[in-house]
Amino acid sequence: MKQLSNWIARGLKLTGLAGLVLLSACERPPVDSVQHGFRGTGMAQVYNPRLLEEKTALNQPPAVQPAASTEGPKAGQVYQNVKVLGDLSVGEFNRLMVAMTNWIAPEQGCTYCHNAANFADDGKYTKVVARRMTEMTQHINSDWKSHVADTGVTCYTCHRGQPVPQAVWFKSAEQPYGSNFMGDKAGQNDPSPVVNLSSLPNDPFTPFLLEAQNIRVNGPTALPSGNRQSTKQAEWTYGLMTHMSQSLGVSCTYCHNSRSFATWEGGPPQRVTAWHGIRMARELNLEYLEPLTPVFPAQRKGELGDVAKLNCATCHQGAYKPLNGAAMLKDHPELGRKSSDPKAAMTDTDVAKVAAALPANDKK
Ligand code: HEC
Ligand code: HEC
Ligand code: HEC
Ligand code: HEC
Repeated sequence: MKQLSNWIARGLKLTGLAGLVLLSACERPPVDSVQHGFRGTGMAQVYNPRLLEEKTALNQPPAVQPAASTEGPKAGQVYQNVKVLGDLSVGEFNRLMVAMTNWIAPEQGCTYCHNAANFADDGKYTKVVARRMTEMTQHINSDWKSHVADTGVTCYTCHRGQPVPQAVWFKSAEQPYGSNFMGDKAGQNDPSPVVNLSSLPNDPFTPFLLEAQNIRVNGPTALPSGNRQSTKQAEWTYGLMTHMSQSLGVSCTYCHNSRSFATWEGGPPQRVTAWHGIRMARELNLEYLEPLTPVFPAQRKGELGDVAKLNCATCHQGAYKPLNGAAMLKDHPELGRKSSDPKAAMTDTDVAKVAAALPANDKK
């Protein structure tokens, strides 16, 4: 028995050693690089064919159902409690309900959002959230063409068949002191997956995707005169940039000319798209997600009681165009326009009503 455990221990040591050798060796298989800017500027994109294959598989759009007739009575006339999608024909409306179920809750079905006894009832928080999400999706597609172009987004872009999108973020709580002699970690210095396991700040989102802090770090002059940006702000910027690269599966030079990271001249046009993306993500978090905070039950919230928020990874999920550029919106034009009656949108009273109906232990 003793001998056996000795062998096991030795075996474990050997596997550990082999692991170290593997880690120090090159990535498998050899990576490809594609030139993305002027020669000699190091502007190349580096790809690992193995990871690219995995990512391609993850970013397949779902099957589309045949279009429904636009003829016949409108959903707003036939149903009792339709506030956003009232101008669709009943056929179009039901087609969208089936699509939504596939996009958000394929296993749970209609009752993930509906009270089976009364589909008009707004008692489930998921239905109230889904209504607001419908408005958000329409807003992205009609007012943020500077970012999503005509490709657009549907619920599937973020949800991918799950009630909670794979990539969301919460504000981070204070890190516990490991021991006093290690000092304050100041929200960083722990390898965090958010910043590709670097020791950059693990919440680079609150300053930029919620607050509108200045992302620039470089002074406009050669000598240090009048640049008030702090080291901390620079670290936030690099944290956000690392997240952006990671979410899109690209290197920094996908958006920057390596000659100078600050200047826009001679840089790839993708940086402009990204600039709009930052503003879009911030607005969606502020205008749509945060106001829904009272509606969400406690188990959906973060340590600090805040609602799940979105960042670049929520839509992109490793691809520089979500779903590798598949244009899902063209099959769901109803998500590309605004509700016929903007006043019909969900009101604060709706939010308050649902929040009040949540079980007591769900309130926070
Ligand atoms: C992800 C949430 C979600 C799922 C899943 C879902 N619905 Fe809905 N449903 C809604 C929302 C939101 C509304 C209200 C739309 C509005 O206000 O414009 C609604 C409204 C309805 C209405 C109108 C009820 C009335 O009288 O006001 C019907 C009917 C309906 N859904 C049927 C279905 C069916 C059938 C399924 C399953 C195939 C389904 N829904 C799945 C979110 C959902
Ligand atoms: C830009 C990304 C994005 C898009 C597009 C989007 N959602 Fe969401 N959705 C989110 C985020 C972020 C949450 C919050 C996650 C959570 O529930 O904690 C969420 C939550 C939800 C929830 C609550 C799920 C739960 O179990 O708590 C529902 C229901 C929902 N969305 C429906 C929809 C519908 C329907 C659409 C399309 C009309 C849609 N969403 C489009 C990002 C998105
Ligand atoms: C998807 C596009 C994109 C990627 C990838 C990207 N950046 Fe950026 N970067 C931007 C945009 C857009 C801004 C300007 C943000 C603003 O002003 O709102 C910016 C700003 C910066 C700044 C501030 C420059 C100044 O004016 O002071 C630095 C530094 C920076 N990026 C470094 C990096 C690094 C390092 C990487 C790789 C880890 C990277 N970026 C990856 C788009 C990108
Ligand atoms: C609501 C979903 C959504 C969010 C959130 C989002 N994007 Fe995008 N993004 C898209 C879509 C859709 C496209 C494709 C547009 C097209 O086809 O031209 C795109 C395209 C881009 C492109 C252009 C790629 C190319 O090669 O032309 C860049 C760069 C980009 N996004 C950066 C970002 C950054 C950085 C963030 C976070 C600050 C972000 N995006 C957040 C949906 C999103």
